[in-house]
Amino acid sequence: MTVTREFFTFLTCIAMLMVYQCKGDRLPPPTGLSYRWLDPFTVNVSWQKPRGVADGEVQYKYRRMKDATDNSLACSEWRNFTENLLTEETGSDRWTFEVWTVGSQNCGKSLNDSTHVPVTIHAPKPRAEMKDIKCFISNGDANCSWISGGQPFNVTYRTCGHTEKVLKRLKECDQPYSGRTRNGCYLESDAVLNNICMVVATEAGQSTFKPALMIHSPKLNIKEENNSLNLSWTLPKIINDKCWELKVCFKQCNMPKECRTLNYETQPMQVTYDKRCRYEFQSRAKTTNYCGNISSDFGDVVFYGTNEPPDETLTVVAIVIPIILSACIILSCYCFRRHSSIICPIIPDPSAIFKEMMMNGNKEVKTAEESLYTPMPEPVESCKITLIAENSVLQQNS
Ligand SMILES: *[C@@H]1O[C@H](CO)[C@@H](O)[C@H](O)[C@H]1NC(C)=O
Ligand SMILES: *[C@@H]1O[C@H](CO)[C@@H](O)[C@H](O)[C@H]1NC(C)=O
Ligand SMILES: *[C@@H]1O[C@H](CO)[C@@H](O)[C@H](O)[C@H]1NC(C)=O
Ligand SMILES: *[C@@H]1O[C@H](CO)[C@@H](O)[C@H](O)[C@H]1NC(C)=O
Repeated sequence: MTVTREFFTFLTCIAMLMVYQCKGDRLPPPTGLSYRWLDPFTVNVSWQKPRGVADGEVQYKYRRMKDATDNSLACSEWRNFTENLLTEETGSDRWTFEVWTVGSQNCGKSLNDSTHVPVTIHAPKPRAEMKDIKCFISNGDANCSWISGGQPFNVTYRTCGHTEKVLKRLKECDQPYSGRTRNGCYLESDAVLNNICMVVATEAGQSTFKPALMIHSPKLNIKEENNSLNLSWTLPKIINDKCWELKVCFKQCNMPKECRTLNYETQPMQVTYDKRCRYEFQSRAKTTNYCGNISSDFGDVVFYGTNEPPDETLTVVAIVIPIILSACIILSCYCFRRHSSIICPIIPDPSAIFKEMMMNGNKEVKTAEESLYTPMPEPVESCKITLIAENSVLQQNS
């Protein structure tokens, strides 16, 4: 019984919610959405008052589609909003927003919000893709460059944002240049650290972006002290020294590469120095969080010390000795084969000896039977000394 009653209550609730949502109190949506580009990066989207509501009775919310996770949407009485839109940030020249009406009392509660009205914004010119955009900054200047086709271009830039003040500050690039692979432009100093937005326009279209700020990889100074190497470096004074973080990777002898992240306080970095080793160092810098976003690539490898001969002798020993040894073994085998009769004469087969003995014995017996003793004639030779060759002696002895 209780189960049925609960189920019934639940159904009633659902039904009431649906009626409430679909029928009565849903606010009317904004109408007549349109947009206007204030400059190459900045768009203003505006709309008409919804039908049947008075000014001040409602507020509005908007968000960019695909940023749906953003919950921090503010309500506004204004019937327009302004945003910076960059083609290279989204890889596209169109963006979709949606706008809806909310009650002025219940901003953020979405009790009787209107349906969401989408609006698609097209960039003032089609996107002309630029690749590998970066600005090298040094003592207040910026050398910005990118890879694009060889066509002529115009560059303008200003601080990002959309206040009236910055909107007025769009500037032509000071010194544009065209290279073989990269086109670029030198920017004036004051622009360097203020969050820059740039636009590169060609015949075909335009590209808008915030360039990645780069510095050249810092030079490492290596000093030998006692049994360690002290590494120090200098980074450009464009921001506070404490904002930099340095990643140093090094290799000693044939050991695996090791990396350490260091900051201003942990300078100089110390590495135990093994004098028989060659060291390889490489470093890159970047800013810590909340200090902007400037970085460098890994610089050239810096070498220190040499791999000492002991290592080489060891290698030589490890390679040459086995070669000599095997040569010796081969040679001795060869010699052994060649002169085996000397070193190790043929060992007579015992059965052969036995056979020979038997045969000889028989012969002797036979001869004894057949012929009687006949004295040998005495040799009447004169004394003659003959030298017997050594080997024949040996053979006889054996
Ligand atoms: C946006 O709306 C406000 C308030 O109605 C108005 O003052 C402002 O000029 C509008 N901005 C643009 C760019 O139309
Ligand atoms: C719905 O919106 C109206 C404004 O049209 C407002 O007066 C009312 O309080 C809202 N209802 C709820 C339940 O928030
Ligand atoms: C500016 O940057 C480009 C591309 O990185 C480079 O070829 C050029 O030498 C740089 N100019 C100066 C003055 O450093
Ligand atoms: C660059 O700007 C000049 C002057 O504003 C204009 O005449 C030219 O067409 C522009 N070139 C491109 C490629 O947009």
